[in-house]
Amino acid sequence: MQSLAILEETALSIWLRESGAAFFSSLTLHSLSMALVVGINFAIAFRLIGIVPTFDLKPFLKFYRLHWVAVIVIFLSGLALLLAYPAKALTNPVFYLKFSLLTIGLIISAWLQNQIQTHKIPGIAQHKFFWIAVASILIWIGTITAGRFLAYTNSILLASRFF
Ligand code: HEM
Repeated sequence: MQSLAILEETALSIWLRESGAAFFSSLTLHSLSMALVVGINFAIAFRLIGIVPTFDLKPFLKFYRLHWVAVIVIFLSGLALLLAYPAKALTNPVFYLKFSLLTIGLIISAWLQNQIQTHKIPGIAQHKFFWIAVASILIWIGTITAGRFLAYTNSILLASRFF
């Protein structure tokens, strides 16, 4: 806890916390990049479970470049939000649930990208792709829900209050 209090007292953490422009641009970038990451994964999953008509996934590979750039932005903006209130997130079990879910979500994204690249996904999705696509959708819904609940489930706002 003491190390979190020390982190909170750094100039960067104070700036990210007290500058409305810094905090809200981090939150806005976080939401925008989330829309891209989750949006692209949903589109591919909906194709694989047959909600949208079968279209060739190969051209969709170009979206993955955008997807991984958005993943970098979501990590950087997430880090900024984390640095603004380190104790708030790091003492909250919901944050670790969210991190586990997004890690699994990104592993599934990378695996599906590889399957598309190596033509392993036929026109009509096989059984295994159907259930992986369903899992992907549920995982991203879980990640967003956990992310949103972070602001309501924290027991500590600032560790420095205890020292
Ligand atoms: C694709 C992955 C991610 C998704 C879908 C996601 C989703 C969300 C959502 C929905 C929120 C609430 C935003 C709001 O209040 O308007 C949020 C907030 C937050 N996220 Fe993420 N996030 C992701 C990745 C990350 C990463 C990698 C980190 C840390 C490095 C992170 C750290 C945070 C923090 C600290 C907050 C602020 C919580 C608060 O209000 O106190 N997120 N995230």
